Amino acid sequence: MKSAKVAKVDGKFDLDLNEIAADKSISHRSAMFSLLSDKPSKVRNFLRAEDTLASLEIAKLLGAKVEDNQREITIIPPKVLSEPFEILDCGNAGTGIRLYCGLLSGVDGSFILTGDKYLRSRPMARVVKPLKEIGAKIDGREQGNKAPLHIRGAKLKAFKYSSPIDSAQVKSALILAALNGDDKSYYKESLLSRDHTERMLSGMGATVKEVELNGENWIEIEPLKEPLKPLDIRVPADPSSGFFFAVAAAITNDSKVVIKDVTLNPTRVEAYKILQKMGANVEFLEKENIYEPIGDIVVSSGELKAVEVSSNIAWLIDELPALSIAMAVANGVSVVKNAKELRVKESDRISSVINSLKLCGVECKESEDGYEIIGGTLKSATIDSHGDHRVAMSFAVAGLLCGMEIEDIECIDTSFPNFFEILSRIVGVEFEDRTS
Ligand code: S3P
Repeated sequence: MKSAKVAKVDGKFDLDLNEIAADKSISHRSAMFSLLSDKPSKVRNFLRAEDTLASLEIAKLLGAKVEDNQREITIIPPKVLSEPFEILDCGNAGTGIRLYCGLLSGVDGSFILTGDKYLRSRPMARVVKPLKEIGAKIDGREQGNKAPLHIRGAKLKAFKYSSPIDSAQVKSALILAALNGDDKSYYKESLLSRDHTERMLSGMGATVKEVELNGENWIEIEPLKEPLKPLDIRVPADPSSGFFFAVAAAITNDSKVVIKDVTLNPTRVEAYKILQKMGANVEFLEKENIYEPIGDIVVSSGELKAVEVSSNIAWLIDELPALSIAMAVANGVSVVKNAKELRVKESDRISSVINSLKLCGVECKESEDGYEIIGGTLKSATIDSHGDHRVAMSFAVAGLLCGMEIEDIECIDTSFPNFFEILSRIVGVEFEDRTS
């Protein structure tokens, strides 16, 4: 097991960050959606982290060929997806397993999807249940709620599904299944979750569009009549990864970061808006629009005050751990509500964040669907990541104020392998490997 000791920051910093990890959601989708074309897709700045490389490996096991000249990967899809000889291992990635589940449900063949011990503990019924209702043949532990999952590709029926949870993974799995349906399908969620699937598939020529039915917004999906156009994309930087450094600048006196070439998709930048509401200075500078609006986000420190977060939770789900660090040093009592989904992420993020903050001397309490944090001062502590990359990186950033030891940091490689390289530009970091 590896651990990192982050020193207390000495003074201020002002950094342009060109090297924030590429977007994880868009990278997963690039690997998968390239299989829906009959021509090679070109992807620049693909995220070379464990989660997304697992999705690319699965594309290969399904018959794709991948050429990589380091600057760009070319994914050459097979004519027909082939039944793989191997088990398809999604690693730690909920996005990987749930989207592949939808994509493969309607493909002729037998497929086994699995992942690491954390992924195998996470709920899959949210995709398996609606997929089975339209004819998918999926089984797994706990009647298909836990991986390993076995899929036997089947003929899928069209559906009209109003999802009980706002989840881009569930939505994307159902949209991918609908492309193999026998008629037009309709999907609805109460808050628009991240919409990379809709944007990318429409860009590739699929009919995935918003329609109004009886005064409600639904997504209409038409089954594919022919292969889609290939992707030609440069993956922007990941705003969820950039957010750790946004918080770093927000909590350190007189400091500033510019997060370069990041997606400014409105479903992805809500946490920056909350940070702004708390008193940090935040500016969004849009530069281009390729599938998504892309530009720079400038964040500098400010006097932070407490905030209540109870809406748009699906837009904050990956950033709440880091936002909690800002809450811990803000003036007043911050409250997070309606965030039960945090309990089924890479760890139970409500208890991993709250128990770790308590170790840092912060007064806080958890409830079933959220928590309360009384802003104050952070103390140095030894924090267990609980195998959750976002918990590990959030407390590493907290270390800037007081020094911190983070244990079990390997999980950071699932999304942001160069995180400590960037953090080392701000502060000293020492590593220890206690594996043997
Ligand atoms: C993701 C969706 C979110 C997010 C995850 C990536 C995606 O999960 O937490 O990191 O790429 O679709 P849910 O959709 O399950 O909330």
